[in-house]
Amino acid sequence: MKPIQVGLLGIGTVGSGTFNVLKRNQQDIQGRAGRGIEITMVADLDVARAQSVVGPDVKVVNDARAVIANPDIDIVIELIGGYGIAKALVLEAIAAGKHVVTANKALLAVHGTEIFAAASAKGVMVAFEAAVAGGIPIIKALREGLTANRIQWIAGIINGTTNFILSEMRDKGLDFDVVLKEAQRLGYAEADPTFDIEGVDAAHKVTLMSAIAFGIPVQFDKAYVEGITKLGAADIKYAEQLGYRIKLLGITKRTPAGIELRVHPTLVPAKRLIANVEGAMNAVMAHGDAVGTTLYYGKGAGSEPTASAVIADLVDITRLHTADAAQRVPHLAFQPDAISNTPVLAMSEVVTSYYLRLRVADEAGVLAKVTGLLAEAGISIDAVLQREADEISGEAATQTDVIILTHDCAEAKMNAALAQMQALPTVLQPITRIRKEELA
Ligand code: HSE
Repeated sequence: MKPIQVGLLGIGTVGSGTFNVLKRNQQDIQGRAGRGIEITMVADLDVARAQSVVGPDVKVVNDARAVIANPDIDIVIELIGGYGIAKALVLEAIAAGKHVVTANKALLAVHGTEIFAAASAKGVMVAFEAAVAGGIPIIKALREGLTANRIQWIAGIINGTTNFILSEMRDKGLDFDVVLKEAQRLGYAEADPTFDIEGVDAAHKVTLMSAIAFGIPVQFDKAYVEGITKLGAADIKYAEQLGYRIKLLGITKRTPAGIELRVHPTLVPAKRLIANVEGAMNAVMAHGDAVGTTLYYGKGAGSEPTASAVIADLVDITRLHTADAAQRVPHLAFQPDAISNTPVLAMSEVVTSYYLRLRVADEAGVLAKVTGLLAEAGISIDAVLQREADEISGEAATQTDVIILTHDCAEAKMNAALAQMQALPTVLQPITRIRKEELA
């Protein structure tokens, strides 16, 4: 049978990896797909560089619309990124009856409802394994492997840049700004790292996983997003002394009141496997009622790891494109008419436990006042650590750090207690609050 023909929009790091892996493993891939898969046309603004990657047999153009308009192309891979032109091209490809493979988590987390509806109406597939955790087949796992389960929660390290930075901060005892500069110098962080360090990239990814796990629409605008820019080396050290590591987690949970959807630095018990995921690696935990807790680990970015996910989608589409649309796996795991309107909870409604660090005057009664306010608020304390005064030198010698771990309480209650503690004259700096998850 004639190979299925693929058009590639954007041949950067992931596009080159996709081209190379498809070529290198073509025999195995054909054996699995039942048909050859060939990239026959590429659009890239840098035509000469693109041509040098794919060689003379592949047509290279600088106009993505020429790929979409080519009637021989069955599948369009979108690797341009962002919400702008990429959105227009994906919708145009769908309208032209092409199946789409994309790694664009931002596009789908924000505009997924519109894109999936357009694809369903046209009878084409939009596949996005590469959009979440790079080479880890987590979309496949959640959508198909765990399909028997009522999924209860997912927690993942789904941004390699920030995990690299946190690992370096812990290993070397350095503050965020210093490590970020070094990560940029080494190419681990982008020149503009905003989406990574502010948690936005992780929030895009957890938004997609949440929709698939719980059968709700993609709702990036409802996600709570907090990055790692305010973390200090001191908090990482204190967390360690209490038996925890700090990780930037994307968390989504089913609760009786609704769905939690949040990204923030999180204390995780050091003994959990996920707490030991270091450097730029990714890992996702998913808990289902039947299977229990599962863990998926691997490279979350990079040329061939991400290509591995892109090609898995190409194989799926090659196998299924002639099937009745009703026989295909739904985009968001649930059939469109089974998507529910279960609300995503505001962060103030989320219930979790906390790490608090207070820089206080080292005077009699200060700790009693702080713990008294927590008691009045009905917030139960799990552990308290006071840093030895002599560890703080110079003018700060009359100050001390008090670290408190709490049991679970609603975020709104904690916010109110924090405001009261912050107003105490003996609390000398803004209080650090980091959420904690046992992931048991
Ligand atoms: N920038 C992401 C990361 C990879 O650092 O993990 C692409 O989503």
